[in-house]
Amino acid sequence: MTTRTPARGLPVFLAAALRQPHLVGAVAPSSRDLGRQLATVVPRQGSPVVVELGPGTGAVSEVIDRRLPPGGRHLAVEINPRMAEHLRRRHPAMSVLCGDAAELGTLLAGADAARVDAVVSGLPWSLFGEDLQRRVLAQVCAALGPRGGFSTFAYRHAARLAGAQRFRALLDACFDEVIVTRTVWRNLPPALVYVCRRPIERGAGA
Ligand SMILES: C[S@@+](CC[C@H](N)C(=O)[O-])C[C@H]1O[C@@H](n2cnc3c(N)ncnc32)[C@H](O)[C@@H]1O
Repeated sequence: MTTRTPARGLPVFLAAALRQPHLVGAVAPSSRDLGRQLATVVPRQGSPVVVELGPGTGAVSEVIDRRLPPGGRHLAVEINPRMAEHLRRRHPAMSVLCGDAAELGTLLAGADAARVDAVVSGLPWSLFGEDLQRRVLAQVCAALGPRGGFSTFAYRHAARLAGAQRFRALLDACFDEVIVTRTVWRNLPPALVYVCRRPIERGAGA
């Protein structure tokens, strides 16, 4: 039996962070504490379909899998092929779609996932331009059912930067409810989680 520790994927994570800092936007995988806050949108009953965006080396995927009920489905969209390959080896029960979150609708259609109950994002939103932020959020809102939940995080020290502020305003435009958690101090660096519910139909692209 294998033990899954975050350190297992660390070399893959660090290599990606050095080669593609604009896509990774982090110095280390998320902590378990941050993962737990992000996973609160994952339903614990029924047969939910959960999509994870930017899973990296799977630090949050593990927490999602522990919470997901037996009938649930976990799909992960990762743009980096090396990370996608790593995830396939480490998380055989998860469906890994190697692609761009901006093409979420097409990727989900290809995976026969018409209805999504929750989206958990590890994407580096503050590094994205406005157009990409809008496109990805519009895809998320279109994929989620009216009672679906969305969660994502921002690093505390960067939350006041222009890209992060713009993203925060877009969340308010896209969801009926946006709750910001307390700072998760046990993460490198400390982070805040946005827990969003009830997507507004027009989405951010409108
Ligand atoms: C900050 S890391 C988060 C990794 C992991 N979720 C965690 O919390 O440890 C961001 C991840 O998003 C991926 N990513 C960046 N842009 C993406 C995009 N447009 N579509 C899918 N994945 C993307 C990166 O390759 C990287 O794995």
